[in-house]
Amino acid sequence: MKEKFTKAMFAGSFDPITNGHLDIICRASKIFDELQIGVLYNPNKKGLFNFDERIELIKSCTSHLDNIKIVSFDGLLVDYCDANGISTLVRGVRSEADVNYELQMAHMNKELNPEIETIFLPTNTKYSFISSSLIKEVLTFDADVKNLVPEQVLIALKNKHKGREL
Ligand code: PNS
Repeated sequence: MKEKFTKAMFAGSFDPITNGHLDIICRASKIFDELQIGVLYNPNKKGLFNFDERIELIKSCTSHLDNIKIVSFDGLLVDYCDANGISTLVRGVRSEADVNYELQMAHMNKELNPEIETIFLPTNTKYSFISSSLIKEVLTFDADVKNLVPEQVLIALKNKHKGREL
């Protein structure tokens, strides 16, 4: 019997991608045949990095992985997955608080489309406290975040900081 080609989705805002995201991406890419990284397109929500910048940063941080596809979506995530043959949503969980929030989302997504499963990957402990928002916050005070984000992101963050956009 032919084995099924498995496609999964790791979605988020990625403003910007962090080492925590990257850790989940690398691990999930080993589990599935194809991992799509879905960047939420929301023109009404202005982040630090614009949509194209986020995608470029993800692209450059994941270029060593050969089964990654970077895509954008708006509307419901499960609708995008349904239309593109994706059966699994991957979510990273850092803490008990994350589990509560993520469970709520997983149940809602299951309600919206029972065919699509969510799987949780526990974050690597060394990244368990990282979030894009916290990184942006501490960087406004010139904190050193070099262990928390990929090098390309660090450079991009410093450039934004210089331009006082943080
Ligand atoms: O960066 P985040 O906050 O972890 O990303 C959350 C995201 C983008 C995965 C979630 O908000 C989402 O799926 N948004 C698309 C709209 C949708 O499907 N909402 C229902 C979620 S239960």
